[in-house]
Amino acid sequence: MTPNLSPKQRETILRAATSAPSKYNTQPWWFRWDGDDLEVHIDPARSLRHGDPAGREAHIACGAAAFAARLGYASFDTGTAVERLPDHADPLFVARVQVVADAPDPRLAALYPFLPRRRTDRGPFHETAIPTAIVDELCAAAREEEARLRVVDWEPAYEALLTMVREATGLEEDELRDERARWIDDPSAAARHEGVPAPTLGPRPEEDTGAVRDLAVGRDIADRGTAAFEARPLIALLETRSDTRYDWLAAGQALQRLLLAATRYGVAASFANQPLENPDLRAEAGRLTIPPEDTHFAAAQMILRLGLSTADVPPSPPPACTWSCATTPSSSTSPSPPRLVRPLTPASAQRSASPSPSSPRAGRTPR
Ligand SMILES: Cc1cc2nc3c(=O)[nH]c(=O)nc-3n(C[C@H](O)[C@H](O)[C@H](O)COP(=O)(O)O)c2cc1C
Repeated sequence: MTPNLSPKQRETILRAATSAPSKYNTQPWWFRWDGDDLEVHIDPARSLRHGDPAGREAHIACGAAAFAARLGYASFDTGTAVERLPDHADPLFVARVQVVADAPDPRLAALYPFLPRRRTDRGPFHETAIPTAIVDELCAAAREEEARLRVVDWEPAYEALLTMVREATGLEEDELRDERARWIDDPSAAARHEGVPAPTLGPRPEEDTGAVRDLAVGRDIADRGTAAFEARPLIALLETRSDTRYDWLAAGQALQRLLLAATRYGVAASFANQPLENPDLRAEAGRLTIPPEDTHFAAAQMILRLGLSTADVPPSPPPACTWSCATTPSSSTSPSPPRLVRPLTPASAQRSASPSPSSPRAGRTPR
């Protein structure tokens, strides 16, 4: 198909895609145009050896980016579909956002304005409960993307899940914390426009409810105060049917859809995924919350805390991308499509032994 997108539209799509959430704001993706379709690839140089050894959460982030890209297309009335894992020979090529002839679902364009407003809110939430109708909408958003959002509000599952989060924090190995420290309140990460800056960490909870993840646990962060958090946080699990790479991507699409729906209704979210980083506790988290008759959606992918914000959260650093290569048109005569990659900054080039941006397939190793 002859490419039709203007440079401005390509930029819109890429800005949308790169606004997606990612663990520690590692932004573990790169993108390439194939005509007007957008390919989403995992960037192995951004993998977390200790925090995400199987690449599950990188897939979730890429799924979220693919969903966000669809909103960019929808904002100028272009319909899309997402093909997950389109090339079995290239496991790091995880999604293709494909232009389709059908008009986009108007619900996607309606979510587009909320992309820049969505952020992870690690602060205290109001004690006021989120209206049930809104929680139902968030569950519906997850279902649309083949996942399930399940509020865990019954005992003994609620207490057991929070206990598990606390336990998982205690079990964190030094390697994992050292790896995380390179992304959290780290000036070199901030210089690269990535990572989690101190102002977005939120205050430390005065009491450990288990629902609030302190990404800087064990570290002193200057000027970081403490605060009382909500007494009974609303906790929900995002689950998928099984636990394949395909499901991880679906979880990411669902995550982004429900977070944007939440943003639209003024609902904030943070995450307490510690137990899901530990294979034993992850299996336990799945078993814990499944009523015996319910064998669907058995794989826990994210643990969310949802609520009504008490304060504005500053945005995380925007990605350090330039968009110039996005304007290169594809042509049917060119041997390979034009490539759009994250330009390596000097710091990330030093850190990364990744293949050169101009030959992104070279040297890629399957996980
Ligand atoms: C797969 C995944 C796992 C995450 N896990 C956590 C977590 O356990 N704790 C947390 O505070 N934030 C977590 N986050 C949120 C990221 O840290 C956040 O998206 C990133 O810092 C960018 O900030 P933003 O969401 O405000 O844009 C996770 C995000 C993703 C996509």
